Amino acid sequence: MSQTKILTENRSIQAVIKNVRSRGQTIGLVPTMGSLHAGHLSLVEESNKRCEITVVTIFVNPLQFNEENDLRNYPRDLAADVSILDQLSVDYVFAPSPEELYPPGYSLSVDVGPLSKILEGRFRPGHFSGVATVLLKLFHLIPADTAFFGFKDYQQLKVVQQVVKDTNLPIKIVGCPTVREEDGLAKSSRNQLLSPTERQRAKCIYESLQEAQKMVDDGEYDAKRIMQSMRRHIHQATGKVDYVALVNPDTLTPENDLTKNTLALIAVRLGDVRLIDNRLIKVGNG
Ligand code: PAJ
Repeated sequence: MSQTKILTENRSIQAVIKNVRSRGQTIGLVPTMGSLHAGHLSLVEESNKRCEITVVTIFVNPLQFNEENDLRNYPRDLAADVSILDQLSVDYVFAPSPEELYPPGYSLSVDVGPLSKILEGRFRPGHFSGVATVLLKLFHLIPADTAFFGFKDYQQLKVVQQVVKDTNLPIKIVGCPTVREEDGLAKSSRNQLLSPTERQRAKCIYESLQEAQKMVDDGEYDAKRIMQSMRRHIHQATGKVDYVALVNPDTLTPENDLTKNTLALIAVRLGDVRLIDNRLIKVGNG
């Protein structure tokens, strides 16, 4: 028998949350765009572990898509998602329509500032504004104690932390490790849009991140040379590089010389599919 309750209206989720709050139960929130895979489920499991009630939101947020095709092709399967969440004993799924969250006359849009203009933000103008806007709405509709996000979308995690800090929201943001396929490819809803050949080639993304670590382990600390080698690896697999970056994990500013742990970020296009990934590059003992 199905335990997971599906809500699609703002006022119904608000009523439910009010009830949960009045019982004094802790709430974990896992915002997603659906088409759930093991990466999403790891966030759900973390929420289940830490909070008494877990709410998963499923909403393909039109505000954060800067290419119409990407929005149109984004995989959607609510029934399959709910059945998976049911097996994990998720308490509530909030799956509103675009009109529910953005009714006629809706106008607010959040400007996150410099953090949203670099890296992903340069290639996807308006993307983080859309992400911040929907998350602010969700945080207000579902005032959770803790919200869970993947390191896979590292810059997004930073954006969320910025939004929560700047708006003084009393919600704890928890980052969770990236879940990968056997060949290292980060789980992503977009992976299913890859042709079999593209899927085969897509492993070059993780390989190039591993290559960066290997170069550092072998004594190469020059960021330019490391990034060159990462780009070459992607090109050999016929991928198109949007960007490769080696940055300070806290500020996301570029590192030229790797003297301490550095975050390697990468965005690649394989055919029409755009994939991102990252990993922490360990330098020495720190
Ligand atoms: P979506 O891409 O569905 O991802 C939902 C959450 O799952 C994000 O926090 C993302 O970082 C995490 N995630 C995705 N792939 C993962 C993986 N392989 N391992 C671990 N975590 C992974 O990100 C979004 O949706 C949207 O931008 C959203 C935050 C819901 C706002 O609309």
